[in-house]
Amino acid sequence: MSKNSMTFRDNRTGKEVELPIIEGSTGPSVVDCTKFYRDFGLFMLDPGFKSTASCDSKITFIDGEKGILEHRGYPIEQLAEKSSYIETCYLLMYGELPTKDEFDWFNRLVVEHTMVHEQLLQFYKGFRRDAHPMAIMVGVVGALSAFYHDSLDIHDPRHREISAIRVLAKLPTIAAASYKYYTGQPFIYPNNNLSYAANFLNMMFSTPCEEYHISPIISDAMDKIFILHADHEQNASTATVRLAGSSQANPFACISAGISALWGPAHGGANEAVLKMLDEIGTPDRVSEYVEKARDPKDTFRLMGFGHRVYKNYDPRAKVLREAAKGVLEETGRADDPLFKIAMELERIALEDEYFIEKKLYPNVDFYSGIILRAIGFPPNMFTVIFALARSVGWISQWIEMIGDDHLSIGRPRQLYSGATKRDWVPIDERD
Ligand code: SDX
Repeated sequence: MSKNSMTFRDNRTGKEVELPIIEGSTGPSVVDCTKFYRDFGLFMLDPGFKSTASCDSKITFIDGEKGILEHRGYPIEQLAEKSSYIETCYLLMYGELPTKDEFDWFNRLVVEHTMVHEQLLQFYKGFRRDAHPMAIMVGVVGALSAFYHDSLDIHDPRHREISAIRVLAKLPTIAAASYKYYTGQPFIYPNNNLSYAANFLNMMFSTPCEEYHISPIISDAMDKIFILHADHEQNASTATVRLAGSSQANPFACISAGISALWGPAHGGANEAVLKMLDEIGTPDRVSEYVEKARDPKDTFRLMGFGHRVYKNYDPRAKVLREAAKGVLEETGRADDPLFKIAMELERIALEDEYFIEKKLYPNVDFYSGIILRAIGFPPNMFTVIFALARSVGWISQWIEMIGDDHLSIGRPRQLYSGATKRDWVPIDERD
Protein backbone atom coordinates (compact mmCIF):
# COMPACT_ATOMS: atom_id res chain seq x y z
CA MET A 1 0.00 0.00 0.00
CA SER A 2 1.66 3.31 -1.08
CA LYS A 3 1.78 6.08 1.52
CA ASN A 4 0.36 8.61 -0.93
CA SER A 5 -3.05 7.00 -1.06
CA MET A 6 -6.41 6.68 0.71
CA THR A 7 -8.25 3.44 1.32
CA PHE A 8 -12.00 3.48 0.93
CA ARG A 9 -13.89 0.68 2.61
CA ASP A 10 -17.49 -0.18 1.87
CA ASN A 11 -18.67 -1.31 5.30
CA ARG A 12 -21.68 -3.02 3.74
CA THR A 13 -19.46 -5.50 1.90
CA GLY A 14 -16.07 -5.06 3.54
CA LYS A 15 -14.62 -4.37 0.07
CA GLU A 16 -11.74 -1.87 0.06
CA VAL A 17 -10.21 0.21 -2.71
CA GLU A 18 -7.01 2.23 -2.55
CA LEU A 19 -6.98 5.55 -4.37
CA PRO A 20 -3.80 7.56 -5.06
CA ILE A 21 -3.34 11.02 -3.49
CA ILE A 22 -1.83 13.56 -5.89
CA GLU A 23 0.01 16.57 -4.55
CA GLY A 24 0.05 19.92 -6.36
CA SER A 25 2.75 22.59 -6.12
CA THR A 26 0.75 24.25 -3.31
CA GLY A 27 -2.71 24.05 -1.75
CA PRO A 28 -4.80 20.96 -1.01
CA SER A 29 -3.81 17.61 -2.52
CA VAL A 30 -6.44 15.56 -4.35
CA VAL A 31 -7.65 11.99 -4.21
CA ASP A 32 -7.64 10.60 -7.73
CA CYS A 33 -11.07 8.97 -7.92
CA THR A 34 -11.19 8.58 -11.71
CA LYS A 35 -11.34 4.78 -11.26
CA PHE A 36 -13.59 4.80 -8.20
CA TYR A 37 -16.76 3.84 -10.10
CA ARG A 38 -14.92 1.20 -12.17
CA ASP A 39 -13.39 -0.42 -9.07
CA PHE A 40 -16.15 0.21 -6.57
CA GLY A 41 -19.40 0.66 -8.52
CA LEU A 42 -20.21 3.82 -6.57
CA PHE A 43 -20.40 7.51 -7.57
CA MET A 44 -19.24 10.42 -5.39
CA LEU A 45 -22.10 12.86 -4.78
CA ASP A 46 -21.03 16.52 -4.50
CA PRO A 47 -23.71 19.02 -5.71
CA GLY A 48 -22.11 22.46 -5.99
CA PHE A 49 -18.70 20.76 -6.17
CA LYS A 50 -17.77 21.89 -2.64
CA SER A 51 -15.23 19.06 -2.34
CA THR A 52 -14.51 18.34 -5.98
CA ALA A 53 -11.51 19.32 -8.10
CA SER A 54 -12.50 19.26 -11.77
CA CYS A 55 -9.04 19.64 -13.32
CA ASP A 56 -5.31 20.09 -12.88
CA SER A 57 -4.50 23.72 -13.64
CA LYS A 58 -1.39 25.92 -13.53
CA ILE A 59 -3.09 29.27 -14.00
CA THR A 60 -4.62 30.59 -10.74
CA PHE A 61 -4.20 29.61 -7.10
CA ILE A 62 -6.59 30.67 -4.34
CA ASP A 63 -6.20 30.06 -0.61
CA GLY A 64 -9.63 30.93 0.74
CA GLU A 65 -8.68 30.67 4.39
CA LYS A 66 -5.78 33.11 4.00
CA GLY A 67 -7.38 35.34 1.36
CA ILE A 68 -4.64 34.60 -1.17
CA LEU A 69 -5.05 34.94 -4.95
CA GLU A 70 -2.09 34.35 -7.30
CA HIS A 71 -1.94 34.23 -11.09
CA ARG A 72 0.92 31.97 -12.28
CA GLY A 73 2.43 32.56 -8.82
CA TYR A 74 2.19 36.37 -8.83
CA PRO A 75 0.06 37.83 -5.98
CA ILE A 76 -2.98 39.77 -7.19
CA GLU A 77 -1.98 42.74 -5.02
CA GLN A 78 1.30 43.10 -6.95
CA LEU A 79 -0.35 42.66 -10.35
CA ALA A 80 -3.06 45.22 -9.48
CA GLU A 81 -0.44 47.73 -8.31
CA LYS A 82 2.37 47.17 -10.83
CA SER A 83 1.07 45.34 -13.90
CA SER A 84 -1.44 46.18 -16.64
CA TYR A 85 -4.41 44.19 -17.90
CA ILE A 86 -2.70 43.41 -21.21
CA GLU A 87 0.42 42.21 -19.39
CA THR A 88 -1.77 40.12 -17.06
CA CYS A 89 -3.50 38.65 -20.14
CA TYR A 90 -0.09 37.59 -21.50
CA LEU A 91 0.81 36.09 -18.12
CA LEU A 92 -2.45 34.12 -17.89
CA MET A 93 -2.23 32.87 -21.48
CA TYR A 94 1.49 32.07 -21.74
CA GLY A 95 2.47 31.46 -18.10
CA GLU A 96 5.27 34.03 -17.78
CA LEU A 97 5.54 37.81 -17.60
CA PRO A 98 6.44 39.10 -21.09
CA THR A 99 9.76 40.70 -22.02
CA LYS A 100 9.46 44.18 -23.53
CA ASP A 101 9.51 42.73 -27.07
CA GLU A 102 6.98 40.04 -26.16
CA PHE A 103 4.70 42.67 -24.59
CA ASP A 104 4.92 44.94 -27.65
CA TRP A 105 4.20 42.01 -29.99
CA PHE A 106 1.21 40.84 -27.92
CA ASN A 107 -0.19 44.33 -27.41
CA ARG A 108 0.06 45.03 -31.15
CA LEU A 109 -1.64 41.71 -31.93
CA VAL A 110 -4.58 42.61 -29.66
CA VAL A 111 -4.79 46.16 -31.02
CA GLU A 112 -4.95 44.86 -34.61
CA HIS A 113 -8.06 42.83 -33.84
CA THR A 114 -10.20 45.38 -31.95
CA MET A 115 -12.64 46.00 -34.81
CA VAL A 116 -15.51 43.62 -35.47
CA HIS A 117 -16.92 42.64 -38.87
CA GLU A 118 -19.38 45.36 -39.91
CA GLN A 119 -22.02 42.71 -40.49
CA LEU A 120 -21.75 41.67 -36.82
CA LEU A 121 -23.00 45.12 -35.83
CA GLN A 122 -26.25 44.33 -37.67
CA PHE A 123 -27.06 41.82 -34.92
CA TYR A 124 -27.68 44.67 -32.47
CA LYS A 125 -30.61 45.90 -34.54
CA GLY A 126 -32.44 42.64 -33.79
CA PHE A 127 -32.56 43.44 -30.07
CA ARG A 128 -35.05 45.75 -28.37
CA ARG A 129 -33.35 48.97 -27.33
CA ASP A 130 -34.06 48.12 -23.69
CA ALA A 131 -32.53 44.63 -23.91
CA HIS A 132 -30.18 43.95 -20.99
CA PRO A 133 -26.63 44.37 -22.35
CA MET A 134 -25.74 40.90 -21.01
CA ALA A 135 -28.40 39.41 -23.30
CA ILE A 136 -26.72 41.18 -26.21
CA MET A 137 -23.28 39.95 -25.11
CA VAL A 138 -24.45 36.32 -24.97
CA GLY A 139 -25.89 36.59 -28.47
CA VAL A 140 -23.24 38.62 -30.23
CA VAL A 141 -20.24 36.81 -28.70
CA GLY A 142 -21.81 33.47 -29.58
CA ALA A 143 -22.24 34.77 -33.15
CA LEU A 144 -18.49 35.45 -33.52
CA SER A 145 -18.06 31.86 -34.72
CA ALA A 146 -20.28 32.78 -37.69
CA PHE A 147 -17.65 35.30 -38.77
CA TYR A 148 -14.28 34.02 -37.64
CA HIS A 149 -14.48 30.42 -38.78
CA ASP A 150 -11.07 30.66 -40.49
CA SER A 151 -9.41 29.64 -37.19
CA LEU A 152 -11.73 27.25 -35.43
CA ASP A 153 -9.64 24.09 -35.57
CA ILE A 154 -9.35 23.83 -31.79
CA HIS A 155 -6.58 21.20 -32.13
CA ASP A 156 -4.35 23.73 -33.95
CA PRO A 157 -2.40 25.79 -31.35
CA ARG A 158 -2.18 28.71 -33.76
CA HIS A 159 -5.97 28.69 -34.24
CA ARG A 160 -6.43 28.57 -30.47
CA GLU A 161 -4.11 31.56 -30.08
CA ILE A 162 -5.77 33.71 -32.78
CA SER A 163 -9.24 32.91 -31.43
CA ALA A 164 -8.04 33.93 -27.95
CA ILE A 165 -6.65 37.20 -29.30
CA ARG A 166 -9.96 37.87 -31.08
CA VAL A 167 -11.87 37.33 -27.83
CA LEU A 168 -9.60 39.70 -25.87
CA ALA A 169 -9.57 42.32 -28.61
CA LYS A 170 -13.23 42.30 -29.61
CA LEU A 171 -15.07 41.97 -26.32
CA PRO A 172 -14.50 45.63 -25.36
CA THR A 173 -15.84 46.70 -28.77
CA ILE A 174 -18.87 44.41 -28.46
CA ALA A 175 -19.49 45.46 -24.83
CA ALA A 176 -19.29 49.19 -25.59
CA ALA A 177 -21.58 48.71 -28.60
CA SER A 178 -24.15 46.99 -26.37
CA TYR A 179 -24.18 50.15 -24.24
CA LYS A 180 -24.32 52.51 -27.21
CA TYR A 181 -27.22 50.53 -28.69
CA TYR A 182 -29.03 50.73 -25.33
CA THR A 183 -28.58 54.53 -25.20
CA GLY A 184 -29.41 55.11 -28.87
CA GLN A 185 -26.01 56.69 -29.47
CA PRO A 186 -23.88 55.75 -32.50
CA PHE A 187 -21.29 53.01 -32.10
CA ILE A 188 -17.77 54.35 -31.54
CA TYR A 189 -14.99 52.50 -33.35
CA PRO A 190 -11.86 51.37 -31.50
CA ASN A 191 -8.99 53.85 -31.43
CA ASN A 192 -5.79 51.84 -31.67
CA ASN A 193 -3.71 54.71 -30.33
CA LEU A 194 -5.32 54.29 -26.91
CA SER A 195 -4.50 51.77 -24.17
CA TYR A 196 -6.88 48.85 -23.67
CA ALA A 197 -8.77 50.51 -20.81
CA ALA A 198 -8.75 54.00 -22.37
CA ASN A 199 -9.99 52.56 -25.67
CA PHE A 200 -12.90 50.88 -23.86
CA LEU A 201 -13.79 54.10 -22.01
CA ASN A 202 -13.62 55.99 -25.30
CA MET A 203 -15.91 53.52 -27.09
CA MET A 204 -18.28 53.74 -24.13
CA PHE A 205 -18.50 57.44 -23.44
CA SER A 206 -17.24 59.45 -26.40
CA THR A 207 -19.60 60.75 -29.09
CA PRO A 208 -18.87 62.01 -32.62
CA CYS A 209 -19.88 65.53 -31.66
CA GLU A 210 -17.29 66.46 -29.07
CA GLU A 211 -13.82 65.71 -27.71
CA TYR A 212 -13.92 63.13 -24.91
CA HIS A 213 -11.26 63.61 -22.23
CA ILE A 214 -10.05 60.38 -20.63
CA SER A 215 -8.87 60.94 -17.08
CA PRO A 216 -5.65 58.96 -16.42
CA ILE A 217 -6.92 58.21 -12.89
CA ILE A 218 -10.16 56.77 -14.29
CA SER A 219 -8.33 54.85 -17.03
CA ASP A 220 -5.92 53.39 -14.46
CA ALA A 221 -8.84 52.42 -12.21
CA MET A 222 -10.56 50.75 -15.18
CA ASP A 223 -7.40 48.80 -15.99
CA LYS A 224 -7.12 47.76 -12.33
CA ILE A 225 -10.74 46.56 -12.35
CA PHE A 226 -9.95 44.47 -15.43
CA ILE A 227 -6.89 42.94 -13.71
CA LEU A 228 -8.84 42.13 -10.54
CA HIS A 229 -11.56 40.31 -12.49
CA ALA A 230 -9.27 38.53 -14.96
CA ASP A 231 -9.37 34.99 -13.60
CA HIS A 232 -10.43 33.13 -10.50
CA GLU A 233 -9.74 29.38 -10.65
CA GLN A 234 -12.72 27.09 -11.33
CA ASN A 235 -15.61 29.46 -10.53
CA ALA A 236 -19.06 28.77 -11.98
CA SER A 237 -18.53 30.58 -15.29
CA THR A 238 -15.02 29.19 -15.84
CA ALA A 239 -16.27 25.70 -15.05
CA THR A 240 -19.02 26.32 -17.61
CA VAL A 241 -16.49 27.33 -20.26
CA ARG A 242 -14.44 24.21 -19.53
CA LEU A 243 -17.48 21.94 -19.70
CA ALA A 244 -18.64 23.49 -22.97
CA GLY A 245 -15.07 23.27 -24.29
CA SER A 246 -14.80 19.60 -23.32
CA SER A 247 -17.36 18.79 -26.03
CA GLN A 248 -14.93 20.50 -28.45
CA ALA A 249 -17.36 23.34 -29.17
CA ASN A 250 -15.75 26.40 -30.76
CA PRO A 251 -14.16 28.93 -28.36
CA PHE A 252 -16.68 31.69 -29.06
CA ALA A 253 -19.58 29.39 -28.15
CA CYS A 254 -17.72 28.45 -24.95
CA ILE A 255 -17.14 32.10 -24.01
CA SER A 256 -20.81 32.85 -24.67
CA ALA A 257 -21.72 30.00 -22.29
CA GLY A 258 -19.41 31.53 -19.68
CA ILE A 259 -21.11 34.91 -20.08
CA SER A 260 -24.47 33.24 -19.48
CA ALA A 261 -23.26 31.57 -16.29
CA LEU A 262 -21.63 34.77 -15.02
CA TRP A 263 -24.91 36.70 -15.35
CA GLY A 264 -26.55 35.15 -12.29
CA PRO A 265 -26.77 37.35 -9.13
CA ALA A 266 -25.04 34.61 -7.11
CA HIS A 267 -21.99 35.06 -9.37
CA GLY A 268 -21.00 37.96 -11.59
CA GLY A 269 -24.43 39.56 -11.45
CA ALA A 270 -23.80 40.38 -7.79
CA ASN A 271 -22.15 43.74 -8.53
CA GLU A 272 -25.37 45.02 -10.11
CA ALA A 273 -27.33 43.46 -7.21
CA VAL A 274 -25.05 45.20 -4.65
CA LEU A 275 -25.95 48.61 -6.01
CA LYS A 276 -29.67 47.76 -6.01
CA MET A 277 -29.27 46.62 -2.38
CA LEU A 278 -27.39 49.78 -1.34
CA ASP A 279 -30.03 51.90 -3.08
CA GLU A 280 -32.78 49.98 -1.23
CA ILE A 281 -31.03 50.41 2.13
CA GLY A 282 -31.00 54.13 1.34
CA THR A 283 -29.29 55.50 4.47
CA PRO A 284 -26.53 54.26 6.82
CA ASP A 285 -28.96 54.11 9.75
CA ARG A 286 -30.97 51.39 7.97
CA VAL A 287 -27.96 49.09 7.54
CA SER A 288 -28.59 47.17 10.78
CA GLU A 289 -32.13 46.35 9.62
CA TYR A 290 -30.73 44.66 6.50
CA VAL A 291 -28.02 42.82 8.41
CA GLU A 292 -30.82 41.43 10.58
CA LYS A 293 -32.71 40.33 7.44
CA ALA A 294 -29.56 38.61 6.14
CA ARG A 295 -29.14 36.77 9.48
CA ASP A 296 -32.75 35.58 9.54
CA PRO A 297 -32.82 31.94 8.29
CA LYS A 298 -36.49 32.45 7.34
CA ASP A 299 -35.64 35.45 5.17
CA THR A 300 -34.20 34.63 1.74
CA PHE A 301 -32.49 38.04 1.66
CA ARG A 302 -28.72 37.83 1.36
CA LEU A 303 -26.22 40.64 1.59
CA MET A 304 -25.09 40.97 -2.00
CA GLY A 305 -21.32 41.33 -2.31
CA PHE A 306 -20.80 39.27 0.85
CA GLY A 307 -19.72 35.69 1.21
CA HIS A 308 -17.81 33.41 -1.10
CA ARG A 309 -17.59 29.70 -1.80
CA VAL A 310 -13.81 29.77 -1.43
CA TYR A 311 -12.84 32.91 0.51
CA LYS A 312 -13.52 32.45 4.21
CA ASN A 313 -11.44 35.59 4.73
CA TYR A 314 -11.47 39.03 3.14
CA ASP A 315 -11.42 38.70 -0.68
CA PRO A 316 -8.04 40.28 -1.57
CA ARG A 317 -9.63 41.88 -4.62
CA ALA A 318 -12.21 43.67 -2.46
CA LYS A 319 -9.41 45.24 -0.40
CA VAL A 320 -7.78 46.67 -3.54
CA LEU A 321 -11.13 47.86 -4.88
CA ARG A 322 -12.06 49.57 -1.62
CA GLU A 323 -8.89 51.68 -1.86
CA ALA A 324 -9.39 52.28 -5.60
CA ALA A 325 -12.95 53.45 -4.90
CA LYS A 326 -11.67 56.32 -2.75
CA GLY A 327 -9.45 57.59 -5.61
CA VAL A 328 -12.21 57.34 -8.23
CA LEU A 329 -14.80 59.01 -5.99
CA GLU A 330 -12.36 61.89 -5.37
CA GLU A 331 -11.58 62.21 -9.10
CA THR A 332 -15.26 62.20 -10.04
CA GLY A 333 -16.31 64.64 -7.33
CA ARG A 334 -18.24 61.98 -5.40
CA ALA A 335 -16.05 61.87 -2.29
CA ASP A 336 -19.27 62.05 -0.26
CA ASP A 337 -21.04 59.38 -2.31
CA PRO A 338 -23.86 58.23 -0.01
CA LEU A 339 -23.75 54.67 -1.37
CA PHE A 340 -20.06 54.40 -0.49
CA LYS A 341 -20.85 55.56 3.03
CA ILE A 342 -23.63 52.96 3.27
CA ALA A 343 -21.24 50.30 1.94
CA MET A 344 -18.54 51.21 4.48
CA GLU A 345 -21.11 51.16 7.31
CA LEU A 346 -22.50 47.84 6.07
CA GLU A 347 -18.99 46.37 6.02
CA ARG A 348 -18.25 47.72 9.50
CA ILE A 349 -21.41 46.28 11.04
CA ALA A 350 -21.27 42.96 9.16
CA LEU A 351 -17.64 42.32 10.10
CA GLU A 352 -18.52 42.79 13.80
CA ASP A 353 -21.67 40.67 13.62
CA GLU A 354 -21.34 37.19 15.11
CA TYR A 355 -23.48 35.64 12.33
CA PHE A 356 -21.11 36.90 9.66
CA ILE A 357 -18.08 36.01 11.74
CA GLU A 358 -19.38 32.48 12.38
CA LYS A 359 -20.30 31.98 8.69
CA LYS A 360 -16.99 33.61 7.64
CA LEU A 361 -18.79 36.09 5.39
CA TYR A 362 -16.58 38.91 4.13
CA PRO A 363 -16.96 41.45 1.31
CA ASN A 364 -16.12 39.90 -2.05
CA VAL A 365 -14.96 41.34 -5.36
CA ASP A 366 -18.48 42.52 -6.20
CA PHE A 367 -18.98 44.59 -3.06
CA TYR A 368 -17.05 47.70 -4.11
CA SER A 369 -16.76 47.28 -7.87
CA GLY A 370 -20.25 48.63 -8.52
CA ILE A 371 -19.57 51.82 -6.57
CA ILE A 372 -16.48 52.50 -8.68
CA LEU A 373 -18.21 51.67 -11.97
CA ARG A 374 -21.18 53.87 -11.13
CA ALA A 375 -18.84 56.75 -10.25
CA ILE A 376 -17.08 56.35 -13.61
CA GLY A 377 -20.47 56.64 -15.30
CA PHE A 378 -21.50 53.06 -16.08
CA PRO A 379 -25.17 52.21 -15.52
CA PRO A 380 -25.69 49.15 -13.24
CA ASN A 381 -26.78 46.96 -16.14
CA MET A 382 -23.26 47.32 -17.58
CA PHE A 383 -21.46 46.11 -14.42
CA THR A 384 -21.64 42.40 -15.24
CA VAL A 385 -20.78 43.15 -18.88
CA ILE A 386 -17.52 44.66 -17.60
CA PHE A 387 -16.95 41.63 -15.39
CA ALA A 388 -17.46 39.39 -18.45
CA LEU A 389 -15.11 41.55 -20.53
CA ALA A 390 -12.37 41.30 -17.90
CA ARG A 391 -12.94 37.60 -17.20
CA SER A 392 -12.76 36.68 -20.88
CA VAL A 393 -8.98 36.28 -20.58
CA GLY A 394 -9.39 33.85 -17.69
CA TRP A 395 -11.99 31.86 -19.55
CA ILE A 396 -9.95 31.66 -22.75
CA SER A 397 -6.69 30.86 -20.89
CA GLN A 398 -8.39 28.03 -19.02
CA TRP A 399 -9.94 26.85 -22.29
CA ILE A 400 -6.53 26.81 -23.99
CA GLU A 401 -5.05 24.88 -21.03
CA MET A 402 -7.83 22.30 -21.22
CA ILE A 403 -7.90 21.86 -25.02
CA GLY A 404 -4.10 21.63 -25.10
CA ASP A 405 -4.21 18.73 -22.63
CA ASP A 406 -3.45 15.40 -24.37
CA HIS A 407 -6.04 13.71 -22.15
CA LEU A 408 -8.95 15.95 -23.13
CA SER A 409 -12.20 14.09 -22.52
CA ILE A 410 -15.81 15.27 -22.50
CA GLY A 411 -17.10 16.31 -19.08
CA ARG A 412 -20.04 14.08 -18.21
CA PRO A 413 -21.05 13.98 -14.52
CA ARG A 414 -23.24 11.12 -13.24
CA GLN A 415 -26.02 11.29 -10.61
CA LEU A 416 -27.81 9.69 -7.73
CA TYR A 417 -31.14 8.53 -9.19
CA SER A 418 -34.02 8.70 -6.71
CA GLY A 419 -36.95 8.78 -9.12
CA ALA A 420 -39.55 6.15 -10.02
CA THR A 421 -38.19 2.68 -10.78
CA LYS A 422 -39.27 0.69 -13.90
CA ARG A 423 -43.03 0.59 -14.53
CA ASP A 424 -45.24 -0.01 -17.62
CA TRP A 425 -47.14 2.58 -19.61
CA VAL A 426 -50.91 2.68 -18.90
CA PRO A 427 -53.54 3.81 -21.45
CA ILE A 428 -55.08 7.13 -20.43
CA ASP A 429 -58.57 5.74 -19.84
CA GLU A 430 -57.10 3.21 -17.38
CA ARG A 431 -55.34 5.84 -15.27
CA ASP A 432 -56.92 6.92 -12.02
C1 SDX B 1 -18.36 35.92 -7.43
O1 SDX B 1 -16.47 31.38 -7.29
C2 SDX B 1 -15.85 32.50 -7.54
O2 SDX B 1 -14.67 32.56 -7.51
C3 SDX B 1 -16.78 33.64 -7.90
C4 SDX B 1 -16.10 35.01 -8.05
C5 SDX B 1 -15.18 35.05 -9.29
O3 SDX B 1 -14.29 35.90 -9.31
O4 SDX B 1 -15.47 34.28 -10.27
O5 SDX B 1 -15.35 35.30 -6.89
C6 SDX B 1 -17.15 36.11 -8.28
O6 SDX B 1 -19.29 35.29 -7.86
C7 SDX B 1 -18.34 36.45 -6.02
C8 SDX B 1 -19.65 36.11 -5.25
C9 SDX B 1 -20.72 37.12 -5.67
N1 SDX B 1 -22.03 36.73 -5.09
C10 SDX B 1 -22.61 37.44 -4.12
O7 SDX B 1 -22.08 38.39 -3.53
C11 SDX B 1 -24.01 36.98 -3.79
C12 SDX B 1 -24.16 36.88 -2.26
N2 SDX B 1 -23.33 35.76 -1.78
C13 SDX B 1 -23.98 34.48 -1.61
O8 SDX B 1 -25.00 34.19 -2.51
C14 SDX B 1 -23.01 33.35 -1.32
O9 SDX B 1 -22.13 33.81 -0.38
C15 SDX B 1 -22.22 32.74 -2.46
C16 SDX B 1 -23.11 32.26 -3.55
C17 SDX B 1 -21.24 33.73 -3.00
C18 SDX B 1 -21.45 31.55 -1.88
O10 SDX B 1 -22.39 30.66 -1.47
P1 SDX B 1 -21.95 29.21 -0.89
O11 SDX B 1 -20.51 28.99 -0.92
O12 SDX B 1 -22.81 28.19 -1.54
O13 SDX B 1 -22.25 29.35 0.58
P2 SDX B 1 -23.62 29.00 1.18
O14 SDX B 1 -24.69 29.55 0.30
O15 SDX B 1 -23.62 27.55 1.51
O16 SDX B 1 -23.62 29.89 2.51
C19 SDX B 1 -23.05 29.37 3.68
C20 SDX B 1 -23.91 29.97 4.76
C21 SDX B 1 -25.40 29.77 4.53
O17 SDX B 1 -26.01 29.71 5.78
P3 SDX B 1 -26.50 28.23 6.30
O18 SDX B 1 -27.35 27.63 5.20
O19 SDX B 1 -25.21 27.45 6.52
O20 SDX B 1 -27.27 28.53 7.57
O21 SDX B 1 -23.72 31.41 4.78
C22 SDX B 1 -24.95 32.05 4.47
C23 SDX B 1 -25.86 31.03 3.84
O22 SDX B 1 -27.22 31.33 4.15
N3 SDX B 1 -24.64 33.12 3.52
C24 SDX B 1 -25.11 34.36 3.59
C25 SDX B 1 -24.52 35.03 2.52
N4 SDX B 1 -23.73 34.19 1.83
C26 SDX B 1 -23.81 33.00 2.46
N5 SDX B 1 -25.96 34.96 4.45
C27 SDX B 1 -26.22 36.25 4.21
N6 SDX B 1 -25.70 37.00 3.20
C28 SDX B 1 -24.83 36.40 2.33
N7 SDX B 1 -24.32 37.11 1.34
